[in-house]
Amino acid sequence: MKLTLPNHSPMQTKDFTFGVATASFQIEGGVEQRLPCIWDTFCAKEGTIVDNSNGDVACDHFHLWQQDVDMIKSLGVDAYRFSVSWGRVINQDGSINQAGMSFYIKLLDYLKQLDIKAFVTLYHWDLPQHLEDEGGWLNRATAVKFQQYAKAVVEAFGDRVYSYATLNEPFCSAYLGYEIGIHAPGIKGKEFGKKAAHHLLLAHGLAMEVLAKESPKTLNGIVLNFTPCYPASDNSEDIKASAFADDYFNQWYIKPIFDAQYPNILAELPAEQHPDIHEGDMEIISHPVDFLGINYYTRAVYQADQTEIFKQIELENVPLTDMGWEIYPQAFSELLISLNEKYTLPPIYITENGAAMPDTINNNEVNDQSRIDYYQSHLNAVNQAISNGVNIKGYFAWSLMDNFEWAEGYLKRFGIVYVDYQTQKRTIKASGYAYRDLIAQRK
Ligand code: FCB
Repeated sequence: MKLTLPNHSPMQTKDFTFGVATASFQIEGGVEQRLPCIWDTFCAKEGTIVDNSNGDVACDHFHLWQQDVDMIKSLGVDAYRFSVSWGRVINQDGSINQAGMSFYIKLLDYLKQLDIKAFVTLYHWDLPQHLEDEGGWLNRATAVKFQQYAKAVVEAFGDRVYSYATLNEPFCSAYLGYEIGIHAPGIKGKEFGKKAAHHLLLAHGLAMEVLAKESPKTLNGIVLNFTPCYPASDNSEDIKASAFADDYFNQWYIKPIFDAQYPNILAELPAEQHPDIHEGDMEIISHPVDFLGINYYTRAVYQADQTEIFKQIELENVPLTDMGWEIYPQAFSELLISLNEKYTLPPIYITENGAAMPDTINNNEVNDQSRIDYYQSHLNAVNQAISNGVNIKGYFAWSLMDNFEWAEGYLKRFGIVYVDYQTQKRTIKASGYAYRDLIAQRK
């Protein structure tokens, strides 16, 4: 039931940051005190969310935030990563919603009082609906609106923040939201994904300009997710297909930031799928970042396909989480090592890693051994990457507590804390205690 790390691992020192992560829409509730966002609209549509649920109440963190921070403190973590709901702090006319701003300021003050570093994400997918009504991320103007929002937040939060991330996983916003439509706003079409992605990356770059100027002391960067691509065989067609998929899903979001250009597959994509790149955009997008946040959950395996170029294949007889995602920690260390080879990177934080498991609660106990095993193998993978020279400064468990898992609703539990949605009672799982003990025994 324990989590361990090798004795001399840099992760065993207090210089390494351990944290827990959440996101606004997934935990807050408090729907009356904010503008509607694209996820409210998406949830209201028939057949979008497996259990027909929504984020109206979620974990009611909007009201229970103080006890939640006490719980975070009891886990002994160094840091808490959470996101700001754009429509809670900015009114439709662009003015500041003071009550919304002070919700986060109280949260930040309490974190500071308890000596927990605040890692603030400015955008974790909850775009105000009124901006979607004007085209959302397909509209270049949204990137400018995001820059203004970032400025307002930074001015209001002052010196309470340790780190700002502009965006969480622009791949998910762009591809899942505007290309295959399984996330909000549910738009489908190959001609939309890369356009949305470009405006998201532009928003990131514009916000980085503001952060660098107005908040030079915080660690400012972006959080990207990676699902490493592996070929189904060593046949050269499959290898090519998998490399194409990697460029399409992964490198597409990191290469512009560090190399100021999109992967070469851009030239192979039909013109209608191209982003609208204006002069100077790539310079804005590649604004230097102080850190790179990396989220990792699983890998994917591809084979060549006549019509689609690449096709993901289902693996048989492999260990899976409750999401149906393969448990494959080796891809985590290989990913970190390969990114470090490909790019000149700033310090890396693992901003999300964890697993949904079919938890049961008995006598106030959740014995989630399978989640502990997942954490153990993935912490080892991080340690392995560090031994190979990758500069990794921190690790955040996804998630602090069970929450609204997007299109899966409340059916998938990622927490190291169990949430009873009827009573809003929180119960620390065995994985939560194991994480706490790992953190406590550091030198
Ligand atoms: C990531 C999201 C996070 C959570 C995990 C399971 O893609 O950033 O909100 O849903 O997946």
